[in-house]
Amino acid sequence: MSTKKSVLYTLKKNRGSYVSGASLSKDLSLTRTAVWKQINQLKKDGYGIDASPGLGYKLTQVPDRLLPIEIQYNLKTKLFSKEIHYFKEVESTINIVKDLAIKGYPEGTLVVAETQAGGRGRMGRKWFSPYGGIWFSSLMYPKLQPQHATRITITACISLVQAIDEVTGLKSQVKWPNDVLINHKKVAGILIEVDSEPDRIIWLVLSMGINANIDLQEIPQPLRTQVTSLEEAKGEKVDRVFLLKTILKKLEKNYEKVNQGNFNKIFEEWKNLCVGIGKKVKVKTAEKTIEGRAIDFDTNGALVIKLKNGNNQVVQAGDVTIIN
Ligand code: BTN
Repeated sequence: MSTKKSVLYTLKKNRGSYVSGASLSKDLSLTRTAVWKQINQLKKDGYGIDASPGLGYKLTQVPDRLLPIEIQYNLKTKLFSKEIHYFKEVESTINIVKDLAIKGYPEGTLVVAETQAGGRGRMGRKWFSPYGGIWFSSLMYPKLQPQHATRITITACISLVQAIDEVTGLKSQVKWPNDVLINHKKVAGILIEVDSEPDRIIWLVLSMGINANIDLQEIPQPLRTQVTSLEEAKGEKVDRVFLLKTILKKLEKNYEKVNQGNFNKIFEEWKNLCVGIGKKVKVKTAEKTIEGRAIDFDTNGALVIKLKNGNNQVVQAGDVTIIN
């Protein structure tokens, strides 16, 4: 553990009380100067630390940042979060993880940003990523055939829904294929990008964009009316670090199930959360617009539409509008 981490974690363990410089330096085998240096460094990172000559140091405030040191505190995941790259601003976290994939970084490597200047959404759309959200991408090497990559999207979607529920008590729904909705408005989106050979995935970048505490005024119209934030839905700010940690825990647990061949339960849970089955829909794909009744999903999570002529059409990706 780094010196900074050990100083911070000791202060966190003793939150609310002072820890003397002497005991910090003794317990952590550091000189008093080394302790003082780390305290100053933590202050620069935005921590509030009260230093009292007679009493020592007391942690008074934690910055509202998705700092790796905060995410990793007491987080027992084996895969996700062992290696976290943090940025105040990036073009897109996806690009960074792709580079890391090519360099062979370990599975679970995470890239988190406070803001993205060129955030990307599905179907080549822009993804607005102002401060207050949770924007991250993670590197994965799933042992799946490329046609089963959607299992990861579905697993991520369920992990996110479970984490939102656990942290905020808010109940989400899913708009096919992977928009997370609260009160019928989009609160988060999931995206995967895959490099594969015909029979195996080489690497997969899993990304999530979560409108946690963003200022909705930053989202331009007409999009703004279709979007919500967890803060708006809950009526108070959510603890972003706590939410991200919970997502990572759920993701790890659910991914383990997929790796053990137990994807079915996750799939059932996802299907039950999906809105629009049985409804008349319009689906805009990259090539055309399809109208019909959404009747089911195939085994890979593609949408099955009954067309007017009675035939079924399977749609892999697209934007659904529910007509009635
Ligand atoms: C969607 O269109 O619903 C998917 C949105 C995915 C957004 C996330 S934010 C982190 C990562 N970086 C990006 O540029 N996009 C994804």
